[in-house]
Amino acid sequence: MPGLPIDTPITEIITKRRSWRTYNGKPVENEKKDQILSFISTLDKPPFGSEARFQMVDLDLKGTGKVSGTYGVIKGAETFIATIVKNSPMDMEDVGFLFEKIILFATAIGLDTCWMGASFSTPLFSEKMELKPEETIPVVSPIGYRAGRRSITDTVFHISAGSKKRKPWPDLFFDSNFDSPLEKNDAGELEVPFEMVRLAPSAVNKQPWRLILDGKKVHFFLKRTMGFESMFKMDLQRIDMGIAMCHFELAANEMGVEGGWKVEEPNIESLPDGIEYAVSWECD
Ligand SMILES: Cc1cc2nc3c(=O)[nH]c(=O)nc-3n(C[C@H](O)[C@H](O)[C@H](O)COP(=O)(O)O)c2cc1C
Repeated sequence: MPGLPIDTPITEIITKRRSWRTYNGKPVENEKKDQILSFISTLDKPPFGSEARFQMVDLDLKGTGKVSGTYGVIKGAETFIATIVKNSPMDMEDVGFLFEKIILFATAIGLDTCWMGASFSTPLFSEKMELKPEETIPVVSPIGYRAGRRSITDTVFHISAGSKKRKPWPDLFFDSNFDSPLEKNDAGELEVPFEMVRLAPSAVNKQPWRLILDGKKVHFFLKRTMGFESMFKMDLQRIDMGIAMCHFELAANEMGVEGGWKVEEPNIESLPDGIEYAVSWECD
């Protein structure tokens, strides 16, 4: 699968991206909107074949700069991209996979973004997007230009989720089974793709992905956060998994490592409780 149509290395874009909730009110230029829409039109089907579409929506900026429909979380941005997916077994992973490509493309052309799975009004977006009964809007993101400083709400979200931090390698990546942490040196040509997964955004920064290197395969598992599923309207951690897959594949492609996705649950010894298998990447 081709990478993004950008000159900057994807590793640089992934490293640079941050969630931004406070914008300076400058409208996104039509040229940039067109670039994003034309990028969206080139997206291939996602790994699990779900049917997803993406729509740009303009919302009202109140006098205070707060955006109606985001519970006061987003300030100063009027343009949003919303995801719409037809309900299917792996719809959330596919939305994560595709939407992260759009988020990274927007980052590459100089825009700021913020994945939002909870802080938006579903009825308001549904109304604007002619949602069909079999469709869902799992996530949206503002696009725009960051303000000089984060608002108080933005700062609270940013600090309470510990957004700057990521778990270290031994907590996330393993060698053959969950008893042996993966050393960077042993990841070989996959070191960068693993690292790009580590830097991925995730809901409340829970970083629920766990990866096992198993010869030429990498198995992706989900370590669910207790109580998380019932707390939100969507299964956000399955979206996190799709984002991790996106980072892994884009980075692998950039490193010249070819491969593809397969669902074939491996027989891993001593699988810890609460860990679910999702998918595997197999190098060619
Ligand atoms: C699936 C998903 C849903 C998210 N939902 C929200 C949300 O509803 N509101 C919000 O302010 N941030 C949301 N975030 C942003 C995360 O809090 C943020 O990605 C994480 O703290 C890491 O910070 P970073 O994106 O700056 O690296 C979401 C992120 C993801 C991946």
